[in-house]
Amino acid sequence: MYTFDDRYREYLSRFEEYVGEYCEKLSTKPEVLAESMKYSLLAGGKRIRPVLMLAVADVLEVPAGEVLPYALALEMIHTYSLIHDDLPAMDNDDFRRGRPSNHKVFGEANAILAGDGLLNAAYSLCFDECMKGERFVLAAKFLSECAGIQGMIAGQSADLYFSEEGREVSEDDLNYIYEHKTGKLLLAPVAIASILAGNKYYFEFEQFGKSLGSLFQITDDILDETGDFESLGKSVGKDKKENKLTCIRLYGLDGARVHADMYADHCYAVLDGIDGNTAFLYDLITYVRNRRG
Ligand code: IPE
Ligand code: IPE
Ligand code: MG
Ligand code: MG
Ligand code: MG
Repeated sequence: MYTFDDRYREYLSRFEEYVGEYCEKLSTKPEVLAESMKYSLLAGGKRIRPVLMLAVADVLEVPAGEVLPYALALEMIHTYSLIHDDLPAMDNDDFRRGRPSNHKVFGEANAILAGDGLLNAAYSLCFDECMKGERFVLAAKFLSECAGIQGMIAGQSADLYFSEEGREVSEDDLNYIYEHKTGKLLLAPVAIASILAGNKYYFEFEQFGKSLGSLFQITDDILDETGDFESLGKSVGKDKKENKLTCIRLYGLDGARVHADMYADHCYAVLDGIDGNTAFLYDLITYVRNRRG
């Protein structure tokens, strides 16, 4: 019988096995580079992006073996974005995934290189897949667009820009930050599974991924205000301190919750238009909406 927790664990263990095998083979000279990359990549985290990619692949009947390299590449890019996000020059966070941040253990210079290493290694994985044919090339191209200067990096840049004292901020600016810094890397797993399925339900999954991305960052912002270190594995109360442009700053906590519900409802509605077994995806939305960690 299906339960959400069991299914999440199944996808997770499938991914952990894959990332574990990859890391066993990963070595560098000097070894500190591989060590620092693995420190963050193997620190756990929810793995929601790879889980999502495996889940959408299941709905669209894409073999797990075809999406796993992209799921790993995406998780490596996400992990690099976190290492850099935590640096003193960015959000200056001492903890991540329940442990000291990468730069706290390996120093700032090594943390920068660990991030650079993860990013480049991610694309190497994608290039290997590209040999298999056109849809694999298109999937890799899509990932690079989501991660790049029209994607996550643009969002991080906007996040910094709008946290400067005295900046005028609007709803559009907030949406831009959400759609890019977080939205693009949550759209990627959903869209890549569809691309590998020959663009099956592409429009629907694009809508789904975009709303899920905004929902995910709103709940991240809410948890920064209401969550605790033990469940989150990272410091709380940072957004206010760093003058971040968040949903809470614009609409207050209750307003942020209303926006979260709106995006969740949009995700449910989009799923209604997709044939196949989407029960896990429905439950995933509810999980993201109500998460504590
Ligand atoms: C944290 O992402 C950064 C955001 C985009 C909000 P996650 O909440 O997915 O972090 P991990 O991967 O579980 O550690
Ligand atoms: C980070 O957003 C998004 C990234 C691209 C890394 P946050 O700065 O809010 O993420 P946390 O709260 O540090 O995980
Ligand atoms: Mg940040
Ligand atoms: Mg941060
Ligand atoms: Mg945050």
